[in-house]
Amino acid sequence: MIKSLRGTKDILSKEIILWRFLEDTARDLFNIYGYKEIRTPIIEEAALFIKSVGPTTDIGQKEMFVFKDRGGRDIALRPEATAGVVRAYIENILGVSLGLSKFFYIGAMFRGERPQAGRQRQFHQLGVEAIGSDSPFLDAEVIALSEEYLKSAGIKDYRIKINSLGCKKDKPNITDFYKKELKGRIEELCPDCKKRIERSVLRIFDCKNNRCRAVVNSLTPIIEVICLDCQQHYKAVKDSLSEIGCNFIEDSFLARGLDYYTRTVFEITSDSLGAKDAIGAGGRYDNLVKDLGGKKDTPAIGFAFGIERLLIATDEALREKKTTSIKSDVFIATATRSSYNEAFRFLKWLREERFVSEIDYDGRSLKSQMRRAEKLGARFVVIFGEEELKKGRVVLRDMQKGEQEEVELSKAIEKIKGFL
Ligand code: HAM
Repeated sequence: MIKSLRGTKDILSKEIILWRFLEDTARDLFNIYGYKEIRTPIIEEAALFIKSVGPTTDIGQKEMFVFKDRGGRDIALRPEATAGVVRAYIENILGVSLGLSKFFYIGAMFRGERPQAGRQRQFHQLGVEAIGSDSPFLDAEVIALSEEYLKSAGIKDYRIKINSLGCKKDKPNITDFYKKELKGRIEELCPDCKKRIERSVLRIFDCKNNRCRAVVNSLTPIIEVICLDCQQHYKAVKDSLSEIGCNFIEDSFLARGLDYYTRTVFEITSDSLGAKDAIGAGGRYDNLVKDLGGKKDTPAIGFAFGIERLLIATDEALREKKTTSIKSDVFIATATRSSYNEAFRFLKWLREERFVSEIDYDGRSLKSQMRRAEKLGARFVVIFGEEELKKGRVVLRDMQKGEQEEVELSKAIEKIKGFL
C-alpha cells in the first residue's frame, strides 16, 4: 500500500471545521486591516528563496525541496511566502498602482525538516506582508494585528517577543561585534556554537544549550550595537505598541533565522507548544524588494503563523466545539424500492432549498436507515412508505422529540421549513 510521505498529513473532514474557522477568522480580520488576499505559485525558481532567506540559513542549506525542470533549472517548493509575494509585487508592478501594498495569504509551505509534533514537511501558513513604508506605526499595526488574530482565534497563552536587528549598514558591525565578544569566551560554548562564531554568529543566540544561553544572556544587547536611527525607530515601535495596548516583551537576543530581516523582528510563542517552537513570527525586510530587483528602496514588514501550530495552541473547548461535524437537517428513508423515485425527487427539492439532506442508496432495512440518520445527527427523517405514498402522505419523524406522524408531503415540507 502506498502511504503518505513522512511529514505530511491528511486533514480529515472532522478537523476541517477548525481549519476553516482559523482561515475565515484570518480573512475577516486581515480584510478589516486593509490586507488583500494574494495567491502566489507553490513552485518558484530556487534562486528566489536562496537570495531571500540566505544561502547559509537552514532553509538555504538543507531544508528546501528542489528539483530540476526539463530546462535544467532548479525549481523549489516554496519554504515560505514572503519571497514569492515580493517577487509578485515587483513583477506585477503593484507598487505603482497601490503605493503601500498590503497582502495576506493562506497556503501550504514545504521544508525538509525532521518531522515531530507541530513540525512537518508540508505545513500551512497564514500571514500578511505590508510593502512600501518604513513608518514605525506600520510595525505596530502588523504586530498588533498578529495579537488581534490570536485573540480572535481564541488563543490565550501567547507571548509576543520583539527586538531590532538594525539596518543593512548595522549588519556587518553587529556580526563583527559579537564575533569579537564570543571569541573571548569560546571555551564556554557548545561544539556547534564554536563553529557558528565564524559562519553565522547570530545563530548562537538560538542555541538551547544552557551554558550557551548563559553566555548569550551576559552579552551586550543587539539594540546597543545598532545605529541611532534604528534605535529611535525601535523606540517609536514600542511606544506606539504601548499606545494601543499591545502586549509585548523585549528580547534583546531575538535574531530570527532568515537573512532578509532588518530592524523590527518579532516572534510569538505559546505555552501549549513550549518556548522551543514559535507559533508565528515576522519582521521588517527593508532591502528585500531592491535585492530581488525592485527599482527603488521599498521597506516592508510582515508575519506568518503556522496553522498546525495554531491548532495545537487553540483552547481545548474551542477545539471540541469546532470538530463536531456538520449535522444533517433531513434524512430520507425509503421503505421499498418503488417509493425511491418519489423520495429522490424530494431529496433534490430539499437540496435546492439548501437543507443538508441525505438518503440511503443501498436498499438497507428501515432500521439501519434510522441508525444512519441518527449517526448523521438528522433533525428530521422523512419516511417514504408504499402505502402512505398512495395517499400522497409520508411519515415525518422528529428525531429531537422522538415523535412521528403521518402527514401530507406538503405538510412535511411546511413543518421542516418551520423548524429549520
Ligand atoms: P518562519 O519563522 O520561518 O518565518 O515561519 C513562520 C511560522 O511558520 C513559524 O513560526 C511556525 O509557526 C511555522 N512553521 C515554520 N516551519 C514549520 C514546519 N516545518 N512545520 C510547521 N510549522 C512551521 C517565515 O516563514 C517568514 N516568511 C515570516 C514573515 C512574513 N516574515 C515577514 N513576513
